Amino acid sequence: MKVAGLNFSSSTCAVGKTDLHICRLMSMGLLRYASEILLGTGSYKRRCRMDTAFCLSNPFFSTYAPIKTLLNSVQVPFFSLQAVHDTLGESLFQKINHVIENKEFILNKDVAAFEEEYAAFSQTKFCVGTGNGLDALKICLKCLNIGEGDEVIVPAHTYIASVLAVLEAGATPILVEPDKSTYNLDVGAVEKAITPQTKAIMAVHLYGQPCNMDAIEKLAKKYTIYIVEDNAQAQGAGFNGRPTGSIGHINATSFYPTKNLGAMGDAGAITTNDSALAEKARLLRNVGCSAKYHHEVIGYNSRLDTLQAAILSCKLPYLNEWNAERKKAAGRYMENLKYCRTITLPGLATGAQHVYHLFVIRHAKRDALQQHLLQNGIQTLIHYPIPNHMQQALKKTGYKKGDFPVTEEISATCLSLPLFIGITAEQIDYVCEKIISFENSLSV
Ligand SMILES: Cc1ncc(COP(=O)(O)O)c(C=O)c1O
Repeated sequence: MKVAGLNFSSSTCAVGKTDLHICRLMSMGLLRYASEILLGTGSYKRRCRMDTAFCLSNPFFSTYAPIKTLLNSVQVPFFSLQAVHDTLGESLFQKINHVIENKEFILNKDVAAFEEEYAAFSQTKFCVGTGNGLDALKICLKCLNIGEGDEVIVPAHTYIASVLAVLEAGATPILVEPDKSTYNLDVGAVEKAITPQTKAIMAVHLYGQPCNMDAIEKLAKKYTIYIVEDNAQAQGAGFNGRPTGSIGHINATSFYPTKNLGAMGDAGAITTNDSALAEKARLLRNVGCSAKYHHEVIGYNSRLDTLQAAILSCKLPYLNEWNAERKKAAGRYMENLKYCRTITLPGLATGAQHVYHLFVIRHAKRDALQQHLLQNGIQTLIHYPIPNHMQQALKKTGYKKGDFPVTEEISATCLSLPLFIGITAEQIDYVCEKIISFENSLSV
């Protein structure tokens, strides 16, 4: 049998069922899953512990280079949902079963229940579930009648969806540099970017850290412009005691699976204290429909899926606890790395209650550091490797390389370290040990 360029036969080695599965995954290029099985970290955990031992002891498997790499790899994954799923256990299946038994899949009671729960969590009067975070942002702008000829100030350093939402609403994104320490909007730069066409500031709480919402609110009042919070990465965060997602006029979030509150597919929501805006958002997310087949405005099909709503309801009660765990993990990284001379640690703004969606450090030799960590079985990611103003898709905005040097520098040097619910102190210490060994190997 030939899999992944390998000849398997019973005479060369004993190949168990799981081993064939690993090879099949490898041949499909699904190395991550194959390594999960080998390392016993995924859903195959219990079943595969023996197989991992088998692979390690079997000369065939342990000498075949790709498998050897796998066996040595992923000691600390970038992300895992295992502990979250272990915590939820049966309750998750019960919720899903309840939706299946109910047989009402669009905008049913489960959606309304989650909307109420999330509004209470965000300390807002209203929550309107949407199909995803990008749509939530676009609908927020549409609710404010922002469109052609209007300008919206957006941080240059953010996920592309923040910018896309402005373009999809028909308005012009005006990018501004972030603060180099917190990576969030630089309020001075925001004020300089305000023109008579400015209709809104999009406050993206990047990596889980809230923007300086007091200063942004002052500016918005001074120039009579709206605030839309992009709270995709900061559910549960706060600024001077006020929850993110409750401060802007109308705000969006994403429940993309890796978010602090993640669904099991795409999902998003809008939060606001304004009943008229909430009403409009309800129309827009549901094809402009006020009553069945009565369409008042041109809307979108972007309803929060019932299954996702049920799953989110199941997870929401744990969110504060999970955010506290993230904060503890971030604190351990901070403590362990505080004497590193070549690492820039994330800055914490006064008044910010950070929820560490990501733990992002910076290093001048970022790519070499990432490689060094990978060689030691540590997965990292880069958020984000290509700045928005240099993305091919956003060429029409007219921005070009060199326009945002702070953003470009962050992009070139940032590295997101593993951070997820269930990460152990040992794993964090191991990551830090390898970062320190990298630093020590440099002649600085
Ligand atoms: C800052 C930010 N804004 C918006 C979005 C868009 O959310 P979604 O992927 O649910 O459309 C994301 C998602 O990654 C995000 O990180």
